[in-house]
Amino acid sequence: MIKKCLFPAAGYGTRFLPATKTTPKEMLPIINKPLIQYGVEEAMEAGIFNMAIVTGRGKRSLEDYFDINYELEHQLKGTSKENLLKDIRNVLETCSFSYTRQMEMKGLGHAILVGESLVGNEPFAVILSDDLCDNEGGQGVLSQMCKIYAKYRCSIVAVEEVALEEVSKYGVIAGRKIDEDVFVVDNMIEKPSQEEAPSNLAIIGRYILTPDIFEILHRTKPGKNGEIQITDALLEQCKKGMVLGYKFKGVRYDCGSVDGFVKATNIFYDKLKR
Ligand code: G1P
Repeated sequence: MIKKCLFPAAGYGTRFLPATKTTPKEMLPIINKPLIQYGVEEAMEAGIFNMAIVTGRGKRSLEDYFDINYELEHQLKGTSKENLLKDIRNVLETCSFSYTRQMEMKGLGHAILVGESLVGNEPFAVILSDDLCDNEGGQGVLSQMCKIYAKYRCSIVAVEEVALEEVSKYGVIAGRKIDEDVFVVDNMIEKPSQEEAPSNLAIIGRYILTPDIFEILHRTKPGKNGEIQITDALLEQCKKGMVLGYKFKGVRYDCGSVDGFVKATNIFYDKLKR
């Protein structure tokens, strides 16, 4: 039902400078796999095979990564190392990739709007690949959200409870529970102070959006930090119709921060050794 997944990937990744001076943050690996590949595999697990990536200057390695490297394939063919390319080959054989560039960094809402030409007039998923989700053997977060979409047919944001001291890092929702772990959103605020926060349910980097979001984004004025915020556009959508918050099953690592990145690395390494 959801056929496309949009990956906003134009950000500078300043928290990982100087590494991100020439390497996109989406290409930083947890063990041996770039962050964005975890996101792509989560979309595949949800039955989505068209990946639309919003890139920016200095991000060409993303396009090269999702392509065949003939020289490498040739070198490894028939050797014991051939197996190391198995996962990425599977991605390339099953998925299509399209790209567009965000020329100016005007916020997540703007990045999503730039993706309009790739997405068209259909509902779509959004993955922010620095939020790495581990389903711990269960269904992936996007897969869980697609199920909810099939029932309610409206925009959905994935949420998790965070400590009050953390709310100012996120979009935060207030909602009324209508189903197990499902809330009808009645308010959402981008990066509120503790006093302003309507709850401690923070939005994480997984969205399903209905295409009317584009028309709203075209009109959305810069909000928090002077950026066009997807949270503001979603608030308008929820006033006109319905937006859901879904408390997903699984664990999220904020790999956009050094702490979260190291934590994910350690946990994924332990799993490998188990
Ligand atoms: C963005 C969104 C925010 C959301 C967060 C999840 O913020 O604007 O609402 O909670 O992603 O990772 P950013 O982390 O890009 O500042």
